[in-house]
Amino acid sequence: MARRKKIYEGKAKIMYEGPEPGTLVQYFKDDATAFNAEKKATIEGKGVLNNRLSEFFMSGLTQVGIPNHFIKRLNMREQLIRSVEIIPLEVIVRNFAAGSISKRLGMAEGTPLPRPIVEFCYKDDALGDPLVSEEHIIAFGWANQQDLDDMIALALRVNDFMSGVMLAVGIKLVDFKIEIGRIWENDFHRLIVADEISPDSCRLWDIETGRKLDKDVFRRDLGSLADAYTEVARRLGVLPSNVTHAPKPTLIN
Ligand code: TMP
Ligand code: ASP
Repeated sequence: MARRKKIYEGKAKIMYEGPEPGTLVQYFKDDATAFNAEKKATIEGKGVLNNRLSEFFMSGLTQVGIPNHFIKRLNMREQLIRSVEIIPLEVIVRNFAAGSISKRLGMAEGTPLPRPIVEFCYKDDALGDPLVSEEHIIAFGWANQQDLDDMIALALRVNDFMSGVMLAVGIKLVDFKIEIGRIWENDFHRLIVADEISPDSCRLWDIETGRKLDKDVFRRDLGSLADAYTEVARRLGVLPSNVTHAPKPTLIN
């Protein structure tokens, strides 16, 4: 591999300096973590699947005019992306209750929500990415009111697109998380979807059987995560031909 500068290493991805200013190379690792990295495993093939799936979703967003960081896939594990200034918020959209909202509000998982609900969490692993309100976001300067309005609009457009794509292959989009970044042009900036869109950051349930096809399989020990992601990729027609994966995740911690 050519020597190049590592910019940042996260739990599931590594960013390298890109070939041109304003670009980065995003490398998808096989590592999976949950509960703020309390639970860790290496799941062979996950990085390859997520690279393909994120390419598929981001290219789809581009086709419907939703701005995002994706430029092109470079190889099995890497894609070229635009470098952005990440807003330190996780933007979550929920269509059905599950996960933390079910716990917080005592709602059975799978309960349809009256409308898509947008939530924000402050990106800080040490604090466990706490839920924050629009008041906090503005007061602490993580984003201004215009950014907030734009983030909500972007998130809801992504939700419409993703819900439709998943419905077409018999999968319910229960919820998902995106990250959003700023692109600066002189003194002005605009917001684009960044990070990744993959089964790591969505809840995806088979419509017929309710089978979970997302990272909850790992979080809750429900079977093979690679099999679940492979099923999503297969239905979307983006299965890479030579993915190999271990039948069982290997615990490394
Ligand atoms: P939650 O129910 O745990 O708040 O998660 C909501 C959605 O956001 C779910 O699809 C998983 C995703 N998510 C992430 O991608 N990263 C995270 O750190 C968390 C907490 C959730
Ligand atoms: N918060 C992420 C998740 O559970 C990963 C982690 O916390 O380690 O989706």
